[in-house]
Amino acid sequence: MKIVVINGTNHQGSTYSITHQLLNKLDGDIKEFFLPKDFDEFCLGCTNCFKKDENLCPHRNKLKPIEEALIEADLIILESPVYVYHASGQMKALLDHFGYMWMAHRPHESMFKKQAVVITTAAGAGMKSTIKDMSDSLFFWGVAKTYKLGCAVRAVSYDGVSDKLKKKIDKKTSKLANKIKKKNGKVKPGFKTKAFFFIMHLLEKKGWNPADVEYWKEKGWTGKKRPWKNK
Ligand SMILES: Cc1cc2nc3c(=O)[nH]c(=O)nc-3n(C[C@H](O)[C@H](O)[C@H](O)COP(=O)(O)O)c2cc1C
Repeated sequence: MKIVVINGTNHQGSTYSITHQLLNKLDGDIKEFFLPKDFDEFCLGCTNCFKKDENLCPHRNKLKPIEEALIEADLIILESPVYVYHASGQMKALLDHFGYMWMAHRPHESMFKKQAVVITTAAGAGMKSTIKDMSDSLFFWGVAKTYKLGCAVRAVSYDGVSDKLKKKIDKKTSKLANKIKKKNGKVKPGFKTKAFFFIMHLLEKKGWNPADVEYWKEKGWTGKKRPWKNK
């Protein structure tokens, strides 16, 4: 199983430790990125990606290795600690650059067959909104199945996490690893994704943004073809 991990910080704290606990149980072929070390740009709002071509993004060279890894992977893992009730700024800055891959624009067909995991830790609160910061992108990219793992660790480093809680987390990551392995290569998007794709298909048939319309036509999605089906 090919796995791409995007770590929402450079350091190896509780969120990283839980992510790596899961990775050890998955035994996959892992590509890992750290933010902001591996991507340190903010979207400039030029809208070249939406209106013309993603290759015209001023940050394309830095973005491309991450995009390629996302497309190649069977499993995408996005992780970030809770920072003031949200994902880290660097995670948000990266995800902004992939707005053009949303279903409303030009989603990549491979996304509809992938699994993903969103992992976060907080001292106490803010996991729900932080998970949403990351899972929204996965949903709108078309990712077929996303698992969510949020832990209130009541600590600012993994050493400070109680043994009782560590045991609980260990159980959770084992259960999740088994699910992921069982479903690898067999996932299909659920009703919500298919319904959203259908609405986008109606919009792209009429046409709004020429770059998107051309893409949808080329893929056959304005007709009967669907990215989660083989034909
Ligand atoms: C800038 C900053 C903001 C934080 N905001 C919150 C917060 O809103 N809620 C919370 O419970 N913990 C908050 N924390 C604590 C961390 O989320 C928590 O310690 C987390 O487990 C750290 O993960 P890490 O070890 O992977 O960095 C914050 C920490 C920092 C550094």
